[in-house]
Amino acid sequence: MNITKLITTFREIFEVQPEQAFFAPGRINLIGEHTDYNGGHVFPCAITYGTYAVAKKREDNLVRLYSVNFPDKEIIEFDLTKLEYEKQHNWANYPKGMIRYIKEAGFSIPSGFECVIEGNIPNGAGLSSSASIELLTGVLLDGLFKLGIDRLDMIKIGKRVENEFIGVNSGIMDQFAIGMGKENAGILLDCQTLNFHYAPIQLDHHKILIMNTNKRRELADSKYNERRGECEEALSQLQKKLPIEALGQLTEAEFDENQSLIANETVRKRAKHAVYENMRTLKALEELNAGNLEAFGQLMNQSHISLRDDYEVTGVELDSLVEAAWKQPGVIGARMTGAGFGGCAIAIVENEQVESFIENVGAAYQDKIGHQADFYVASIGDGAKEISMEVSE
Ligand code: GLA
Repeated sequence: MNITKLITTFREIFEVQPEQAFFAPGRINLIGEHTDYNGGHVFPCAITYGTYAVAKKREDNLVRLYSVNFPDKEIIEFDLTKLEYEKQHNWANYPKGMIRYIKEAGFSIPSGFECVIEGNIPNGAGLSSSASIELLTGVLLDGLFKLGIDRLDMIKIGKRVENEFIGVNSGIMDQFAIGMGKENAGILLDCQTLNFHYAPIQLDHHKILIMNTNKRRELADSKYNERRGECEEALSQLQKKLPIEALGQLTEAEFDENQSLIANETVRKRAKHAVYENMRTLKALEELNAGNLEAFGQLMNQSHISLRDDYEVTGVELDSLVEAAWKQPGVIGARMTGAGFGGCAIAIVENEQVESFIENVGAAYQDKIGHQADFYVASIGDGAKEISMEVSE
């Protein structure tokens, strides 16, 4: 991303010089899918694709935002005292929600500001472009007004925006990965306690590829909420006998023994995924730490199968990509990443095979689905932060 170009755009639009620059990444999740809201573990990392902003404080109460990605929406403007969700404000509801809840958390935002944003995360691809804008706004307000917001609080405020302002009942994984990301490290996060640690990911001979189905995640939000509901139903039936607070507290054996408490077969399958996926995530980390990349890849594959058959959130596009990926030489593992229902999958592929992998999987996908998939090499980068006005990447 060229910050100099972003600064020029800012000057053209607002006719002043911006003062500070900020960045927030997107994320991929390596394993641990649909476990965060079940009190289980996730293992995501921040990627170097993300959202950039340049900004300047104003003297009055106006917030004026412009996105290079949505030029037809022009400048979106609102007053610091009127922070209601407004449909026509579109993407700007994310920053607006952040401003509102940061104020509600007791921070004083003494004036408005102007800001130009540009992202290079493919829109609607399930790489958390929305959480990226949330955390971008968090570091921007923190940096412009020297608020000193604790990072975990900022992450929780981002989640609150998603849940209460936007109305998507998501877990904490995306905001956490984007807020806490670290170059060349995955984050093992216990979503029940929020204890976490970094695990180095040094792939000297492999690349992590992101494969975009280019299927927008339509209906994803309602299906997502439906899955959450099913897991809650399973939990309450298990709680009749077991003293647990979350599905993530069960081992596979404990689940198997007690699964008959769950009356509905579909609901039972959902809960099985949540429990098994959580245990898989812990095993995956052990394998990674022991240098067993092959075993890590096998667990990724099992994760996809469970999301396909038990949790039923993949769909023909993601399955076609992942199943084509499994057949290629030099593939360690492949699975969908994020919420599912379209969006992206990831694969770990030997360096020498990357080119033919992209060609073969791309052709198989085009053949079967009738439109193109896109491929990107993922680098694991830092979390949201202020950046130099000079940076040009
Ligand atoms: C979305 C949500 C996350 C998480 C994943 C599934 O990305 O925002 O909280 O639930 O789906 O693992």
